[in-house]
Amino acid sequence: MTTQDSGIKSEGFIYVFPDSALIFVESILGAYGVPTENAAVIAKCLIEADLRGVDTHGINRIPSYLARIREGVLDPKASPELFQITPVVAQIDGHNSFGFLSAYVGMARAIEMAREFGIGMVSVKNSNHFGMAASFVLQAIEADMMSLVFTNSSPALPVWGSAEKLMGVSPIACGAPAGKTKAFVLDMAPSVAARGKIYKALRRGEKIPVDWALDGEGRPTEDPESALKGVMLPIGGPKGSGLAIMMDVFSGVLSGSAFAGHVTSPHDASGSPAHVGHFIVAIKPDLFMGLEAFKERMDYLYQRVVGSAKREGVERVFYPGEIEDLCREERVRSGVPFVVEEVEGLNREAEKVGVEGLRVEVKTDR
Ligand SMILES: NC(=O)c1ccc[n+]([C@@H]2O[C@H](COP(=O)([O-])OP(=O)(O)OC[C@H]3O[C@@H](n4cnc5c(N)ncnc54)[C@H](O)[C@@H]3O)[C@@H](O)[C@H]2O)c1
Repeated sequence: MTTQDSGIKSEGFIYVFPDSALIFVESILGAYGVPTENAAVIAKCLIEADLRGVDTHGINRIPSYLARIREGVLDPKASPELFQITPVVAQIDGHNSFGFLSAYVGMARAIEMAREFGIGMVSVKNSNHFGMAASFVLQAIEADMMSLVFTNSSPALPVWGSAEKLMGVSPIACGAPAGKTKAFVLDMAPSVAARGKIYKALRRGEKIPVDWALDGEGRPTEDPESALKGVMLPIGGPKGSGLAIMMDVFSGVLSGSAFAGHVTSPHDASGSPAHVGHFIVAIKPDLFMGLEAFKERMDYLYQRVVGSAKREGVERVFYPGEIEDLCREERVRSGVPFVVEEVEGLNREAEKVGVEGLRVEVKTDR
């Protein structure tokens, strides 16, 4: 059922399954003129984020993307264009299309180059927000490739010693395939938390931990609304702000895209095209030994990490990406939890373009 025909008044969670989410996202993007094959890529990335528990970067992002389309600052009909620069280097002009498309096409080309030459690097300009960076690391892992995926993003974080938003909370992602154990998938913003977690708390009427952000006056805050007027806090002080600058060097300066605080926010429909830059590398892991030997070594690393002695009070040691993998297994079975206000927000978008609302499942337990 949809929330429109159920009149849901639930205080708890309502659940969305991937098949319904896929139909919803593809039809709403189609209504805005996004070509079918592009809508499929965008939908897959958003739904994968929701399944992996990265629901700060899932289908709840749709209203902000659509607002930018309506204001003419994101081009729904555009597709990325690829230029081969050297045998191992390609460049993509995103032409202001959805960021997911450039990153997907970029990683696909990087993988092809790595298969042939051992490494492939793709620099992307004129792109947009690409959501969960791990989407493209997982794309590489499916092809048995190691990868690096960087992006820059709109100002949210001060450089160390400054009070002014300048750098993005731009994620660093990387990964490597394994054999019988879990692939290594590290995907992290250089801030204590991704800014999307503050938007999620705002949508859900929740407080945020006091170490995530400062308010507009530079004071620690638990209130998401005040935090959005202020700045995000970097991990490890100057090291976190240094990583944010690194994302800008590799994604913005190198590509020819915007940098140094000039990328526009995916939440700001009144701005200009975002000019986000990305940096994508795929590496063939069997350059120095066979693939099986590499994977056995990754399996050994995994066992050493999760088997290491636990600190007092810790139930289990996890490998990067493992919590998200476990969440995915659970959510494929039980659905992705949403609050009513989130589903209603998405359904208002569906109503605007006359497509069917999101099909949900209501459970009484929380
Ligand atoms: N596109 C953009 O502009 C943008 C900007 C910011 C963040 N994001 C996305 O937001 C998402 C969330 O970012 P985040 O920094 O808040 O992530 P996070 O803090 O939830 O996780 C960061 C990393 O730490 C690992 N991790 C977490 N807990 C762990 C534990 N107990 N043991 C071992 N490993 C653990 C995770 O697997 C992950 O690889 C990411 O997918 C990121 O790509 C995107």
